[in-house]
Order: sequence, then C-alpha cells, then structure tokens
Amino acid sequence: MASATKRSGTSGHSNTSIPGNRIVTLDEFIIRSEKDFEYATGELTGLLRDIGVAAKIINREVNKAGLVNILGVADGGENQSGDTQQKLDVYANEKIIECLQNSGECCAIASEENTDIINVPPVTSKKSHYVVMFDPLDGSSNIDVNVSVGTIFAIYRRKSDADGPATLEDFLQAGTKQVAAGYVLYGTSTILVYTTGRGVNGFTLDPSIGEFCLSHRNMRIPENGSNYSVNQGYYSKFDLEMRRYIDHCSDQNYGLRYIGSMVSDIHRILIHGGIFLYPSTRKYPKGKLRLLYECNPLSMLVEQAGGKAINTQLKRILDMEPAELHQRSTIAIGSPAMVDELQAFIERYSALPL
Ligand code: AHG
Ligand code: MN
Ligand code: MN
Repeated sequence: MASATKRSGTSGHSNTSIPGNRIVTLDEFIIRSEKDFEYATGELTGLLRDIGVAAKIINREVNKAGLVNILGVADGGENQSGDTQQKLDVYANEKIIECLQNSGECCAIASEENTDIINVPPVTSKKSHYVVMFDPLDGSSNIDVNVSVGTIFAIYRRKSDADGPATLEDFLQAGTKQVAAGYVLYGTSTILVYTTGRGVNGFTLDPSIGEFCLSHRNMRIPENGSNYSVNQGYYSKFDLEMRRYIDHCSDQNYGLRYIGSMVSDIHRILIHGGIFLYPSTRKYPKGKLRLLYECNPLSMLVEQAGGKAINTQLKRILDMEPAELHQRSTIAIGSPAMVDELQAFIERYSALPL
C-alpha cells in the first residue's frame, strides 16, 4: 500500500461500493479495499488476512479453554515486562508469529510477550516492507474466569532498507505512522475491528461458516457517553486531577464499567461512548499500558471513529515518539467530549507545568 490514494481529500470509506444487503466476508472486504490504494502491492492485504487466520485459530482455543489443559499460568511465569504469562498468552503469541512467518508478508514482528524484535526471513524472493506489532492476548488474567479477552495489532511500513534485516528503528515510530491497526475481541461473539486510516469496520465471526462477516460498517464513536472506565480500586494512588475527575463522573451519575481487558472496554466505548482511563499509579508511575502494543493501535481506531486519545500530560497518544519497544504510557481515550472534559480537569487541578 502507498500513502497516495485515488480518492484523496475524502474521509470516505472504501466500502461504499459494497452492497448493504448481502454477506461480505473479511477477505472480500480487504481485497475490495485494496483497490482504493493506487500503489497497492497486496502485501498489506496479505498481512490482514494472516491476522484474520490467526484470530480464528486463537478463537478456537479460547473457546475450548475450559475443556483442555490450557488454562492457568504458563511454565516460566512472567514475560519480560514482569507480567504474569498465561498459557493462552504463549499459545496466542506462537500462533500469530507462525501465521506471519509462514506467509512472509512482513519482515519483522514485535510482541508484548517477546523481549526483542523477531526478524522474518523472506518466504519467496519478494521483499517485505511492513512490520507488525501485537498484544497476542489482552486481558489474559480474565481467561480463567470466562471473561472476554482480545488481540491487538498494529502495522507500520519499515524505515530501514528492504534489502537488509529490519531494525529496532522500524518499530520505534510514532502512532501516526501506523498504516493499519485493529483488534479481535473474543467475547459473546468474536469480532475483528480494523482500520487502514479510512474509517473503522467490524466483522463478526460466523462460526457456522468459519468466516468473519461485515457486521459493523463505518463505526462512529458517540460524541459523549455516560460511562467511565477506570480501575477505581487505585483511586487513592491517582493524582489529584484524576481523583477530581472521577468524583465528577460519580457526581454526574455516570456508570462505572471496567472489564480489566482494555479491548473489551474500548469496544464498548466505540459503540456506546464513554471514556477509558489508565493514569499513573505508584506501582506504574508512567502508566501500565504499553504504547506500541495497546495505546497506539487502539488510539488510531478510536480517532478514526471520531474519538480522541491523550496521555495525562495532555499529549496526543499518536504523536508520542517511542524510545523503547516495551514503553508504557498513561492514557485517556474515548468520546471526544469526555476526553475534552477530562483535559479541562487536568488543566485546572494539575500540579504539572502544562
Ligand atoms: P495484558 O493482559 O495484555 O497484560 O493487558 C492487561 C491490561 C489491559 O487490558 C487492562 O485494561 C489492564 O491491564 C488492567 O489492569 P489493572 O488490573 O491494573 O486494572
Ligand atoms: Mn494487553
Ligand atoms: Mn497481553
């Protein structure tokens, strides 16, 4: 895919030509959308299809998790970030890497579960121009209790020369450079939601035919919402401005909804509106969530749907310049009016020089 598009100047969505009254599979949608990009080579299309396949394999395993010996903490126990690693984290990680390596559509991979980047040797003589980053299983501590989990992915164009191996530089790019981002939510149904920068579309897995089918066309986040999503158990560890904002939400009778898997919370917010917060705590002074695997892809999706995403220093998440692969960030993300309201609280109560 190239940055120039045939329909420049539009915020138009590539699926307008697809009839609304028949089943459209993810593969068909991706192939049709490719035609909107003048210099498309099919690489990005191939990558999105690989991720769709990996999602189906992970979905199968998540669904039978209670039946087989795949629940619980993995041998070894922790990933490099010090997070507890579940068996399904390891399984999902392996499956995504396998799918991407087999097709050779990307030149390198970075995962929340791996310390370093993984170079992917070319499968044919074709050179690949993309790198993929992902959180294989988000909210994995929810697995053992049958609560929704997800997979998050981001795709960037490499900066290094396509003749050599990929480098760390290829991954340390601002979120504005993402060419595609998305998530899969393994919930009451399984849904894949993605964007290539031309709006957001969602595809629900129809288990009877084993296909993701277009179900949420051109998703738009409500301007405002009446729910807030934060781990309020840490209230006393939050900074003053955050506590004042949470008090305000409570005064306004906003509902508190917090699943503990960011994908699930963001999916609800995309549909019903609301705000998701993960500010700094004493344990995580820079925030807990990973900039490259969680904050950037979900911020691109939310912005593409009309929402906003900032850190608690009021910087747009997508403009942050990453310095490390596993960098963490604070985040406030969701309906634009609610993010603006939070921003006003930070400006009013923050001790920080803004
Ligand atoms: P992961 O399972 O990939 O480590 O991510 C868990 C994240 C995120 O999904 C969720 O919103 C958050 O951690 C929950 O953290 P707390 O338990 O501290 O609220
Ligand atoms: Mn996660
Ligand atoms: Mn994870």
